[in-house]
Amino acid sequence: MSETIETLRKEHEQICRDLDELRGLTEGCPLESVIEDLERLIVSHVSREDVEVYGPLRKLATLSSEADAFLTKSRQDLEYVKISALIFFEKYRGKSPAMCGDFKKDLERLSGKIRARIDLENRELFPFLLNFWKTLK
Ligand SMILES: [Fe+2]
Repeated sequence: MSETIETLRKEHEQICRDLDELRGLTEGCPLESVIEDLERLIVSHVSREDVEVYGPLRKLATLSSEADAFLTKSRQDLEYVKISALIFFEKYRGKSPAMCGDFKKDLERLSGKIRARIDLENRELFPFLLNFWKTLK
């Protein structure tokens, strides 16, 4: 589990770097490759988390009310972030900032949601899972 968490933390860092790179793009820069990279990373990250983190968390939720509460809180928030990201990617895929008046505003909004989600996972969810795993050994 600790290797999985470490990989996920590294992906969080890469997602934040990609968001910063998008923020730094100026008019005339092609958005396409950065958007595609970020979308690909987020889709694979969320899939990995679903199998490797939320799968075990769902099992723990049957044993622990604390895990069940985490699962409920995490699931609602994750769906909200996923839908926001899909809307953003659909809107801006294949475009350049010069074509997109709302781009900066939409990026800031999405970036805030993603960073809050990452913070929740890094600060609460991952330590909870690691600690729970230790108690089971
Ligand atoms: Fe994550």
